[in-house]
Amino acid sequence: MYTIIITDKKEESRLQMTNEQYYTFIQPYSDAKDILYARLNVLEHNLYGKTATHPTHNIQERIKKKESIEKKLLKKGKEPTMMNAKDYLQDIAGLRVICYFTEDIYSLTDTLKFQSDLIIIRECDYIKHPKPNGYRSYHIIVGVPVYCMDGMEYFPVEIQFRTMSMDFWASMEHRILYKMKRDDKEQIAAELKEYADALVTMEKQFAKYTDKQGLSFT
Ligand code: GTP
Ligand code: MG
Repeated sequence: MYTIIITDKKEESRLQMTNEQYYTFIQPYSDAKDILYARLNVLEHNLYGKTATHPTHNIQERIKKKESIEKKLLKKGKEPTMMNAKDYLQDIAGLRVICYFTEDIYSLTDTLKFQSDLIIIRECDYIKHPKPNGYRSYHIIVGVPVYCMDGMEYFPVEIQFRTMSMDFWASMEHRILYKMKRDDKEQIAAELKEYADALVTMEKQFAKYTDKQGLSFT
């Protein structure tokens, strides 16, 4: 057993998790993510069967890296231990479901909420209530039952449902404002908010072109 010392550019901190412990720790989170990914595919097939249109454009997945787990815990004022990661982080496993239209997001989330074996831990609808900066997305944290030799335990998976235009905006905003240190941040933020509003209008226009039954688009 050994402790890895990670030296950040700005701060030096102690990771209380070996690589081996990290991989053992994240395994059930990764399993929960895979289970939920498969379930979302089933729901997608079901919805396709009913409407003959695909609600989902693509699904992205990720597991939080060891360094990000530590960083987030430190930011929350917690010691970077596995116990605290389990207690305080609900986005160790994440899925990002990119849909065509807002309507598709609600079709998927409504059916997801009907799944009796899953627990809805937290929901945040930034589509009905966008963030002041223009961020739009539907966040839901789902407790997924993971069965092992010792029994069953629920593990949280964060799903971010977005349309393609919401994802385009969020990815750009993240790249332009989050990472960069610039003097004109306020000006850019105001412009980005305008683009967010323009994308909402554009998306509504696109929605008008689709056939409600979707049959002519097969
Ligand atoms: P954290 O999980 O600690 O960030 O806090 P929270 O759970 O209150 O956050 P929230 O559910 O609002 O957002 C979690 C994730 O959504 C972030 O890690 C981002 O991926 C995404 N997100 C939230 N707000 C923004 C935003 O303003 N811009 C962009 N680009 N992404 C955002
Ligand atoms: Mg979060």
